[in-house]
Amino acid sequence: MKINGTELARDLKNEVKQKTAEAREKYGRVPHLVVILVGNDPASQSYVKGKGRDAEEVGFKSTTILKEDTISEDELLDFIKELNADDSVDGILVQLPLPKHIDENKVIETIALEKDVDGFHPGNVAALWQKRPCTYPCTPKGIIKLLDKAGVEIEGKNAVVIGRSNIVGLPVSKMLLDRNATVTIAHSRTKDLQKVASTADILVVAIGRPRFVSADMVKEGATVIDVGVNRDPENGKLCGDVDYEACKDKAAAITPVPGGVGPMTRACLMENTLECFLKKMEK
Ligand code: GUN
Repeated sequence: MKINGTELARDLKNEVKQKTAEAREKYGRVPHLVVILVGNDPASQSYVKGKGRDAEEVGFKSTTILKEDTISEDELLDFIKELNADDSVDGILVQLPLPKHIDENKVIETIALEKDVDGFHPGNVAALWQKRPCTYPCTPKGIIKLLDKAGVEIEGKNAVVIGRSNIVGLPVSKMLLDRNATVTIAHSRTKDLQKVASTADILVVAIGRPRFVSADMVKEGATVIDVGVNRDPENGKLCGDVDYEACKDKAAAITPVPGGVGPMTRACLMENTLECFLKKMEK
């Protein structure tokens, strides 16, 4: 079964749109999301466009700010501080990666905790790992929602996560653990990855290598979640970390690329933005 992320994201965005309309009635304004892109990396440009489109679709105010890649770290941090102080801004997202001369950690720490719609701020990360209320990072949150909506049980299952990034691998592992899966975190240097991966009832792949996962790494009947967004070296088309055609008949459920995790990530960003806004307005 193909897990249709586009469809599930549409449902979630419709819920956000409905709640946004109600918020407009109640508070006289809608959530305002500011997305900052530094430089002109084509992949980042396309992600940022998608975020702006989704924000408008759910009825938010959306601002995209483009900065030259010559901007200094201090200038960027000062700009973020201005947005922090601006009461009309509810969510701030700085698209990663950033040019090498800018320290990503400093940028992430500078975004006000209550406007951190990405869930990357150390305050949100600590809260996640300590099981306190937090803004969940969008991709891991989207993955858990995809599993739930597809009716995949998590509790008691063996989950293998390939990848250990701060954005996806680590937080999704923790969220699966909190749902009582037994979690193995694997990576490019894991010995006998084929053997480890093929123990998974739920296999999450976020390693960033085109068609890295072959059919022999997938257990019959497993659920496969492909977080990869790569360019196929052969034809230049978008492809995932999983060889979809080779794995689709072995997996009981599998996400395609495009149309799987990506749309859910953006839908969760909209939900996070609404939650930050409501938290502020309900104070
Ligand atoms: N780059 C890749 N994924 C993400 C994300 O979820 N948020 C931001 N800000 N940058 C990213």
